[in-house]
Amino acid sequence: MAHIGILGAGRVGTNLARAFAAAGHHVTLGRRDDGEPGAPPAHGAGIHHADHRTTARTADIVINATPGDTSLERLTALQAELAGKILVDVSNATRDDADGLPGDLCYPGGSLAERLQAALPDTHVVKTLNTMLFMVMTSPGSLSTPPTAYLSGDDERAKKTVTALLGDLGWQPGRVEDLGGVTTARATEAMILVVPHVLRRHGFEPFAVSLAR
Ligand SMILES: NC(=O)c1ccc[n+]([C@@H]2O[C@H](COP(=O)([O-])OP(=O)(O)OC[C@H]3O[C@@H](n4cnc5c(N)ncnc54)[C@H](OP(=O)(O)O)[C@@H]3O)[C@@H](O)[C@H]2O)c1
Repeated sequence: MAHIGILGAGRVGTNLARAFAAAGHHVTLGRRDDGEPGAPPAHGAGIHHADHRTTARTADIVINATPGDTSLERLTALQAELAGKILVDVSNATRDDADGLPGDLCYPGGSLAERLQAALPDTHVVKTLNTMLFMVMTSPGSLSTPPTAYLSGDDERAKKTVTALLGDLGWQPGRVEDLGGVTTARATEAMILVVPHVLRRHGFEPFAVSLAR
């Protein structure tokens, strides 16, 4: 079992924290240190809370579930804490439209994952799970069409470790599509462009952008 640190205690981070804790992993959910005293919110049994720096320092594997448009600065500041570790990036780096839904990419012609890998050379960045609504990440079997979890990353061992973690979330190996090195993340990050149009038509009905064969 791994010690998984999750940065960002929003919909994605909380959902992943609960699922990994239920699978028996030690989970620390990293929240911004807002200086507010008092107990952290309850997110479930087996989930610990810490600030982002402590979360990154103490975990073996770190998941970025914070807003993608500001992730590069945030994670670069944690370079020492992330050294030698796997960074699983599930974020989307987008600029919002007027209705708050993703409107455009922050890094057209590239990707956040590539920027993170360049800024964190001692960390193994693996991009995955950013191509679906958050509830699908932890219940891939709930869709009538089997969804795809894409993987992008330069380190084969890191991708193998992440594939095993996806298995703990219910992903069958045949539904995990390893696209290759971290540069392939520009393809899956661009898939976000379809998402706002689907949401405007169907609301937050669970879906994933998947491969059909
Ligand atoms: N929602 C989805 O279905 C979905 C699907 C695929 C990918 N994603 C991506 O996953 C990431 C998280 O999405 P989400 O829906 O969970 O968003 P969210 O509900 O808004 O949560 C993001 C969390 O990040 C933290 N945060 C926000 N601003 C921050 C800042 N300036 N500095 C540090 N921490 C900050 C906040 O947690 P604290 O205040 O507790 O620290 C917040 O709860 C995004 O990059 C999104 O594009 C989302």
